[in-house]
Amino acid sequence: MGMATEANGDKKLRTDCSTVGEVIREERVYPSEEFRASSWISSREQYDEMYRRSVDDPDAFWEKEAEQFFWKTKWDNSDGKMHSENFDLRKGPITIEWFKGGKTNICYNALDRHVKAGKGDAIAMYWEGNELEQNKKLSYKEVLDNVCQLSNFLRSVGVKKGDLVAVYLPMLAELPIAMLACARIGAIHTVIFGGFSAEALAQRLLASGAKVLITTSGYRRGHKVIRMKQIVEEALSRLLEEEGHSIETCLTLANDSAVKRQDVPWTARRDVWWQDVVPRYPTVSHLEWLDAEDPLFLLYTSGSTGTPKGIVHTTGGYMVYTAATFKYTFDYHEGEVYWCTADCGWITGHSYLTYGPFLNAATVLVFEGIPTYPNPNRWWDVIDKYNVNIFYTAPTAVRSLMRFGDAPVKAHHLKSLRLLGSVGEPINTNAWRWLHEVVGNGRCPIVDTWWQTETGGFLITPLPGAWSLKPGSATLPFFGVQPAIIDPEGNELSGEATGALCLKGSWPGVCRTILGDHERYEMAYFGHFKGYYFSGDGCRRDEDGYYWLTGRVDDVINVSGHRIGTAEVESALVSYPMCAEAAVVGYDHQVKGQGIYAFVALKDNTRNFDEIRQALITTVREQIGTFAAPDKIHFAPSLPKTTSGKIVRRILRKIAAKELDDLGDISTLANPEVVDQIIALTGN
Ligand code: PRX
Repeated sequence: MGMATEANGDKKLRTDCSTVGEVIREERVYPSEEFRASSWISSREQYDEMYRRSVDDPDAFWEKEAEQFFWKTKWDNSDGKMHSENFDLRKGPITIEWFKGGKTNICYNALDRHVKAGKGDAIAMYWEGNELEQNKKLSYKEVLDNVCQLSNFLRSVGVKKGDLVAVYLPMLAELPIAMLACARIGAIHTVIFGGFSAEALAQRLLASGAKVLITTSGYRRGHKVIRMKQIVEEALSRLLEEEGHSIETCLTLANDSAVKRQDVPWTARRDVWWQDVVPRYPTVSHLEWLDAEDPLFLLYTSGSTGTPKGIVHTTGGYMVYTAATFKYTFDYHEGEVYWCTADCGWITGHSYLTYGPFLNAATVLVFEGIPTYPNPNRWWDVIDKYNVNIFYTAPTAVRSLMRFGDAPVKAHHLKSLRLLGSVGEPINTNAWRWLHEVVGNGRCPIVDTWWQTETGGFLITPLPGAWSLKPGSATLPFFGVQPAIIDPEGNELSGEATGALCLKGSWPGVCRTILGDHERYEMAYFGHFKGYYFSGDGCRRDEDGYYWLTGRVDDVINVSGHRIGTAEVESALVSYPMCAEAAVVGYDHQVKGQGIYAFVALKDNTRNFDEIRQALITTVREQIGTFAAPDKIHFAPSLPKTTSGKIVRRILRKIAAKELDDLGDISTLANPEVVDQIIALTGN
């Protein structure tokens, strides 16, 4: 049965809130009757009733969700409450606790529980490598065996509950296995995205205090070979020389098809080959029972200022929240094949490639490669090969494949697809429609899920059987989530409104702190609007109560779904000896959503700009990673500043967007003349 599309002809609204910005007619897309009837939440009335319960009595609502898991000890609800929170800095420090006193283990609930229930032979993971011939499948029992062996190894090198283990791996099957092995023994994992440079890796290892690192000899990404252990070596020697910090054990997975053992730098005593040690350990490993509020993992993310923030998620609330959001949003039913294209280096790979799916005994497809290698058919081949039912990806990837036209998609039947999902940035209506019509053949709803590293799981998302979609809108809040739109004066707006997107009251999956800096956590999220969590995103609520995300309102930019702090890129640029000052802003980019636009003032303007431009890009690549390299560098004699010396980015954003007629008042600048000079120097 097809999906009805209804255009609302008499309304012309600027409904596309993406950075690409198109004016479109609002339309609604309804789930088919067949889809609706079989879904967990199959009507707006059912949602409304559950939503009301979830905000009227969150404890009772989440208690019911939590009860399906195994708890060694039930949470303490002697006072009738299983969560406590202070969301308001005026009343004291921010504290959030869910299921406190309850003892559980997320690895047990994600693996052992299913094996014990007779699902050991069900496929937990299909793994498809970068190369066509590379693939494997692992049952729940096999994943559990691997996890137990690795957790025994980690114990043998002294890893205990509360210790930090860093994981720097590409999307090999061993990456989610490593995360689960840490969780099993109560070690806190910190996955560091494989695209980060040696310098960025060293910075995160130092900040986290990790003593054990899990990595690989190298891997292939499309045609490129990445010598990962070489990068690790650089990071570790720098750490030792500059900071006196050493990693005691570096477990290295030999990935011979990319980089052979004999070709990697090696430090005896510290380095061990995974294949030489891990398989020798027993496939039984006892569990560490953790308090619901014990930390599960640390994940670095970018903020508007300063160094990356080590976001801390805890065990019980995160478990219950990721499981519930996965089940209801993806409307997951047993036996379905679910594919999430995210990398475990980011939150999506934690919540919706690893924990959420495994907690629901799902079959997950893990793909190491890229959508265009060896050709732009690859994704569609993979969907048909594994009969993928639910496909969750990012708008950037969709836009990059749209450029190849419809033919590669149409050459595949893609009949298994039932539901599509989008995450990481606003999805423009063109990409939404292409995904819906060309990939989903007009049949599959799209869940446009809005959330963040800090939120642990989805906050605003369609429940696909329950209500109609509007292309480009993340629609309505998930259970227990209370969005608020706030104006610049801090007033909460009602009805149709545009402003800063905030949240009232906690949900079980929200992060609890920033490692080692609770004050920064309080200021970043609770310091702007008292009594609310501030997301950093702008948003519009329409006349039907649907939410439309409009992008970040702070100095964070979202490049191809990668979250980048402008301050981090600026600090890399100014470290280049010839750079006097630098300011970075985002600008609309057809494929990446946002691109990085850097304004740079040099100490000496007589140099060769092309050479310096290249050197600046190399500097950013070395200090952060290739994904953070500026798309455009605009040389300027100096940067526009206030009389107190603050760079006025508002003007630079307008110049980057070529909105030169709309620069606003520049007369109050300390150096208004530079604005014309910058405009005159195209520099691109
Ligand atoms: O700006 C929002 C954007 O991504 C930011 C969070 O980035 P990160 O913590 O890296 O997590 C990405 C995966 C959840 C948000 O502040 N964002 C994420 N999803 C959407 C989105 N913007 C619009 N629509 C979305 N569906």
